[in-house]
Amino acid sequence: MKTIDPSETDPRFFYKYMTSSVAPRPIALVSSMDAAGRVNLSPFSFFNFVGIDPPILVFAPNKRAADKTNKHTALNAYEVPEVAINLVTNAMVHQISLASAEFERGVNEFEKSGLTPLPSVKVAPPRVKESPAQFECKVIDIREHGSMVLIICEVVMAHFDTDILDENGLIDQRKTDWIARLGGDWYARATGDALFEVPRPQVGIGVDALPAAIRNSNILTGNDLGRLGSVKAFPSADDVATFSTNPEIQRIIDEARYGCQYLPDLLHLQAHRLLAEGNVTEAWLTLMQSEISA
Ligand SMILES: Cc1cc2nc3c(=O)[nH]c(=O)nc-3n(C[C@H](O)[C@H](O)[C@H](O)COP(=O)(O)O)c2cc1C
Repeated sequence: MKTIDPSETDPRFFYKYMTSSVAPRPIALVSSMDAAGRVNLSPFSFFNFVGIDPPILVFAPNKRAADKTNKHTALNAYEVPEVAINLVTNAMVHQISLASAEFERGVNEFEKSGLTPLPSVKVAPPRVKESPAQFECKVIDIREHGSMVLIICEVVMAHFDTDILDENGLIDQRKTDWIARLGGDWYARATGDALFEVPRPQVGIGVDALPAAIRNSNILTGNDLGRLGSVKAFPSADDVATFSTNPEIQRIIDEARYGCQYLPDLLHLQAHRLLAEGNVTEAWLTLMQSEISA
């Protein structure tokens, strides 16, 4: 391991490790307004949804490293404590990148980026028409610590493009194409093969309860052990005995016997395959064959 003490490291150097490891981060495209009514639009990936009731979003336009001055978005939030936070899709990435350039204060990045302002209902700054999820927010607090400027916002109105909704009116994650920021110039796209589901866990037996031969297996992975430890109980002796007639088990037992192979390894390989398919029940029944074949 490379170990770093931030207090002994240049913050701008340590930042590279942080942005590449606390990643990918969602991106808030924030529209704000100064006291004169001039509109500003900038992206921020120090951003998240952190409270449910009421709904709270936070983002952090940090002070500029060079001169420690506040970014325009932060100055605006002090002057007019309202913002529109818009989520970003792959179709918008080059426009939001352009909006992030250091334009002079007062320059409207809607115009520079070519993104379209849409009047908000409850706040002064406009929303971004191209964004499929737009949140009108009141700024409820601004906290500063070192160069951090954390803007805490309450969502007072939300708009979702019907194109990303399912038949129940909820967002279908497969219809979204959100992008996220990583370190350096890297972005990620949450779409297609990058998406996968993990069933909600129940209070299972836990990895610590697995037999040592399974827990210390050279074949089963950490994810395999996590799946095996998620079951509520070990399979019954009856179920294990019944499963011993399964053709695949018979084939494995024959392979071990006539091919002079180590049976537990073959069973672990088969269980690993079954777990990859999400078949936890048969994986358990397969692993337990070691007990009765021993
Ligand atoms: C995808 C993306 C994410 C960014 N995230 C942040 C961030 O979280 N905090 C920050 O201070 N700057 C961030 N930046 C840089 C700001 O967008 C940039 O400094 C911008 O000029 C600020 O605009 P403003 O001064 O008009 O508020 C990001 C830039 C990009 C392209």
